[in-house]
Amino acid sequence: MPVTTIIEPFRIKSVEPIRMTTRPERERFLREAGYNGFLLRAEDVLIDLLTDSGTGAMSAEQWASIMRGDESYAGAKSYYRFADAIHEIFGFKHVLPTHQGRAAERILFTTMCKPGDVVPNNTHFDTTRANIEHVGAQAVDLPIPEGRQPATIHPFKGNMDVAALEALIGEVGRERIPLVMLTITNNSGGGQPVSMANVRAVRAVCQRYGIPLYIDACRFAENCWFIREREEGYAEKPVAEIARELFSYADGCTMSAKKDGLVNIGGFLATNDEALARQESRLLILTEGFPTYGGLAGRDLEAMATGLHEVLHEDYLRYRIASTAYLGRHLAEIGIPIVQPPGGHAVYIDAAALLPHVAPRMFPGQALLAEMYLEGGIRAVEIGSVMFGGTDPQTGEETTAPMELVRLAIPRRVYTQSHIDYVIEVMADVYAARERIGGLKIVWQAPPLRHFTARFEPVAAAHA
Ligand code: F0G
Repeated sequence: MPVTTIIEPFRIKSVEPIRMTTRPERERFLREAGYNGFLLRAEDVLIDLLTDSGTGAMSAEQWASIMRGDESYAGAKSYYRFADAIHEIFGFKHVLPTHQGRAAERILFTTMCKPGDVVPNNTHFDTTRANIEHVGAQAVDLPIPEGRQPATIHPFKGNMDVAALEALIGEVGRERIPLVMLTITNNSGGGQPVSMANVRAVRAVCQRYGIPLYIDACRFAENCWFIREREEGYAEKPVAEIARELFSYADGCTMSAKKDGLVNIGGFLATNDEALARQESRLLILTEGFPTYGGLAGRDLEAMATGLHEVLHEDYLRYRIASTAYLGRHLAEIGIPIVQPPGGHAVYIDAAALLPHVAPRMFPGQALLAEMYLEGGIRAVEIGSVMFGGTDPQTGEETTAPMELVRLAIPRRVYTQSHIDYVIEVMADVYAARERIGGLKIVWQAPPLRHFTARFEPVAAAHA
């Protein structure tokens, strides 16, 4: 019989102990953290699924790259190695290293947008939205309708609604739309992929109106793997070739290499537009650093160059996507409603469906997170009304998000299957206790991006 078990395609060379805690300890830690996982000490967390960003394990080759880092202020060898990797994998002419994704976003939007502009995206990530709003422009999400229905299965739920894009351009006028973005995979919409056909269709609309198309490329390799698995005509193609085709439709990209760059810090901004690149480098020099290091050490650039190649290895991607699907399948078997199908980097629980007795204004996602931590020391993140709700500046009313999700993000190459089995067991206990889980209220907050620092307290009765 052929062997079908998909194993972790690596062995472990260096280990980091994790510490067990008791439930009474966790009750105290959570209370002290204002029921906000961002305010916990990481050493008090057993399995940390807060994010897949910067939390991955580097390979032996990457650690070797760290030693090769050239720390020259200008023109370092490491910069050229990094730039070569970007040209080879993404194909863009100009690249600016940045310390992480949001620095690339800030430079891009400061250069391209003015107050009153509108930037469409399949779904903006929170930092992307915040950086657009920071320059006085408006961030508009245009996912396909299936993208907003957690239970609906669709192979490319991250796709942009192309008709809605055309309607928006017609409504606000081409001159107010300086660029269109596509986030691959669509993180805030469930880690769902965008199909090549959708990228092409969005590209065609952009071309018709002369609007540049930018890709938020954080999880490009995972997205390209899904294209290979799910889209006709790609099953036999190497992932690197799929990536080259995808980026050939774009004018540039922003990247947080803390995801599919397999590094703990780093990012970049790439473009084919020379005049724009020149303008962007001026801002880069002002806030990040000289254009051949951009806020990073030479060793970081080296590790990124190596990671960007490694992430395209097919054994790695097969294991990566299979391990996320494994967690998703088992949670669904327990009866936990998840965004279907599971995403590339994370499984998203539909907290509104799991806790129908907790109203959105009592933050069902945040309440679920608290229970997961108390039950098993698991940390994850809310992607719902804590992250995207707030006080409407015009009406003063509390707004809520379209979905109340809890994301279990899986760090790259960090946890083994038994860690994931532990998570599944804890989640079964959380599921059994679901009717006893009550809501939370915010007792302190500081917008924008209030989810990082807000403090909560339990609400006495779930229906209060
Ligand atoms: N775009 C997307 C789609 C992201 O998921 C992130 C970060 C960024 C941009 C910003 O990159 O953190 O390097 O500045 N996402 C992390 C997460 C924080 O947990 O999903 P950054």
